[in-house]
Amino acid sequence: MPESSANLPSPEDVFRVRGGEPLRGTVHLSGAKNSALKLMAASLLCEGEVDLSYIPRIGDVPVMADVLRGLGVEVELDLAREHGRFRAVDEPSWHAPADAVTRIRASISCLGPLVGRTGRARLALPGGDRIGARSIDLHLQGLAAMGATIIQRTEEVEVIAKELTGAMITLDFPSVGATENLVMAATRARGTTVLDNAAREPEIQDLCRMLVAMGATIEGIGSPTLEIEGVDGLGSVTWETCPDRIEAGTYAVAAALTGGDVVIERVRPADLTMPLIKLRAAGVVVDEGADSLRVKAGDLQAVDVVTLPYPGFPTDLQPQMMVLLTRAMGTSRCTENVFESRFSFVAELARMGADVEIDGHHAWIRGPVRMHGTTLSGLDVRAGAAGTLAGLVADGETIVRDVHHVDRGYADFIPRLQSLGADVERVSDADA
Ligand code: UD1
Repeated sequence: MPESSANLPSPEDVFRVRGGEPLRGTVHLSGAKNSALKLMAASLLCEGEVDLSYIPRIGDVPVMADVLRGLGVEVELDLAREHGRFRAVDEPSWHAPADAVTRIRASISCLGPLVGRTGRARLALPGGDRIGARSIDLHLQGLAAMGATIIQRTEEVEVIAKELTGAMITLDFPSVGATENLVMAATRARGTTVLDNAAREPEIQDLCRMLVAMGATIEGIGSPTLEIEGVDGLGSVTWETCPDRIEAGTYAVAAALTGGDVVIERVRPADLTMPLIKLRAAGVVVDEGADSLRVKAGDLQAVDVVTLPYPGFPTDLQPQMMVLLTRAMGTSRCTENVFESRFSFVAELARMGADVEIDGHHAWIRGPVRMHGTTLSGLDVRAGAAGTLAGLVADGETIVRDVHHVDRGYADFIPRLQSLGADVERVSDADA
């Protein structure tokens, strides 16, 4: 099976966007980035084979595959077919390779399964988007409550637990990463772990359901209280990664923003309840199918958006929504409660002519304004996507730099936008 990371586009490229075209047509989406990476990490717990489909063709996937290979997992990845096989039949190594780990935030998801399987883990502190402090204290406190010893060094963390024991854990905040790590560790702990104030994002539900299919016992999936009964081992599984609700929301915003009419396929509308409430309140017309959405432009009105853990409005859709609100009549307020640095994108938007005022974790967006093309930086995966969307409605040409962030999280972003009629292309930096 070919290793397809070589087919991923060059990180040195830029996006050239010319505004004005309404998006029209149908787009078929990928599996969720934030699920696939964790399902891959869960293979560390599996004494057989994890056979995964709908793995998105994104830059983070081959990096995660390298992290797993470095831990001794046999990986066959065929990104062209969105498929992979992961085998950790023998006990994996407990010391992850620092170079791959520091390139990808999701590598922290190896911590829980490694400690669960081998009783020990050493991991360099992970990389990923620079959108806030992104501490891992909740992950470590939870593992300590299960009996692990934590050794923190400047650039790495080591966790040692001869045997994890079930514990009552209440998270300070429903952290996605901490919930996933603690659930995975708890599947191999002795006794029952109750994890309260747990995050319940659809991607976490996907992970929990796959673990159950591997033989784990987890009650309360989708609720804030998870009860995990430790088992002696987890076996082989064949699993489909759940659809990417953030990718779906990004194309929904793009359709509405450009005055278009787009059908988005392979979506679970129920995972997008709050974004759809907000889009409709902003005047966007959304028809829901069983696994599709049709999104049409309407007269855009101001709306207030507050980011919160699921089922609240996702922080990963906030920059895209803010771009939409620059075109809405009136003043909208956006409140960011999850990542303190997520508003750094606003400076880029302001350079395009957006009227946004920030006060702490609130942003006021006055619209409608006509933005103008400029050169901007995609500071993180979602900011890069949002900057591209802004370019779709800006006068003239927009150049989006640092698109390696977008590549980390969006499969075939430019081809998919082109297929919907957008005037966008990927060019090498020298040609821009
Ligand atoms: C995941 C997603 C990311 C999404 C985020 C929130 C992946 C790979 N990434 O990130 O796309 O934006 O959920 O939906 O799945 N925190 C602490 N201590 C901890 C853990 C978290 O203070 O131990 C803080 C973080 O700094 C952040 C907030 O809690 O401010 C949310 O973090 P968390 O929910 O853990 O997000 P991630 O798992 O990092």
